[in-house]
Amino acid sequence: MEMTADEMLACAEAAEKEVAAAGSLAELDQVRVAYLGSKGKITTVLKSIGKLSPEERPAFGQAANQARVRVEAAIAARREELEAAEAARKAAAELIDVTLPGRGVEVGHQHPLTLAAQHALSIFIGMGCEVMTGPEVEWCNLNWTALNYPPDHPAMDEQDSFYVTDAVMLRTQTSPGQIRAMRAHHAEGCPVRVMDWRRPPLEALSLCHCTPSPLRVVIPGRTYRREAVTLTHNVIFVQLECLVIGPGITFGDLRGAMNAFVHEFLGPRTRVRFRPDYFPFTEPSADFSVSCEFCGGEGCRFCKHSGWVEIGGSGLVHPNVLRAGGYDPEVVSGFAFGFGIDRLAQRRYGIEQIRTLYENEMRFLRQF
Ligand code: DAH
Repeated sequence: MEMTADEMLACAEAAEKEVAAAGSLAELDQVRVAYLGSKGKITTVLKSIGKLSPEERPAFGQAANQARVRVEAAIAARREELEAAEAARKAAAELIDVTLPGRGVEVGHQHPLTLAAQHALSIFIGMGCEVMTGPEVEWCNLNWTALNYPPDHPAMDEQDSFYVTDAVMLRTQTSPGQIRAMRAHHAEGCPVRVMDWRRPPLEALSLCHCTPSPLRVVIPGRTYRREAVTLTHNVIFVQLECLVIGPGITFGDLRGAMNAFVHEFLGPRTRVRFRPDYFPFTEPSADFSVSCEFCGGEGCRFCKHSGWVEIGGSGLVHPNVLRAGGYDPEVVSGFAFGFGIDRLAQRRYGIEQIRTLYENEMRFLRQF
């Protein structure tokens, strides 16, 4: 026998010290293997008991077993301690201090163009208009022909365009929406009614079978022109088109609607000025300007020293355009106007350069 009973006792005491010194579960396991593993010191002694003489066996066997029980108990107790310490450490690491101030989430807001468009739309909705939209990639036919532009007419040069194919272009104006609005407004079953514009529209329009009801729409949307970028011009801009059709609509209705809108949008002191102009789709036609709020009408660089800022075009809907929409010009008349929302937003918010609306500069956008 390699060990006496006393040595067995000393071995158990040494094991207990090592157990107490183990700083982690892994270290504790190393101690366990060293003493109680299959080749551990105590295990080896226990295995050799069988070789002892029958006289020696009971006393030594008892000592060895006691040693094993002591060391096992010490390991179990230390394991509990270590596990508790580990759990406490983890809990402390995961602790959330609910008294810390929160981290604020930066909330975005709407772009000034969106704000201006929504404000403008809400005014028109208040006047009884319904809101419609058309596509930015439009049939040339609707951008020009249906709006009574004769082939190769010089009025098209004023709106130099981006063409996709010979028949498709980026719309230069929201006015093609007039045709779409009129033709969508016919009664179900009427051949003039067009809801699916995926095929190019027919040049020769079928005859209307219904009497379309009076129409009041606003058509907002982006438009595109090949232009040099200046203080007041950009290649992309947002227009808003208004179209009203019904029996006995006059230029007086146009003026009334326009004044009401401008006073609501820019303030009651803003004046509106109409001047004769030419548009193929209106007759008579007028451009309209608002008094410059930068200089109060005195003249400054934002109004090209005239006191007025041109906002858009207007007029009474041309009979050919009414016909293109399936309306009978003998029965109804209408007015239409269209303007750039960018220009109005520029006026309303006092923005010097129109292109800043498209540059996504946060220092600019945060001001709205
Ligand atoms: N579409 C014209 C343009 O972009 C503006 C315009 C003029 C719209 C007269 C109208 C109108 O509805 O009647 O220059």
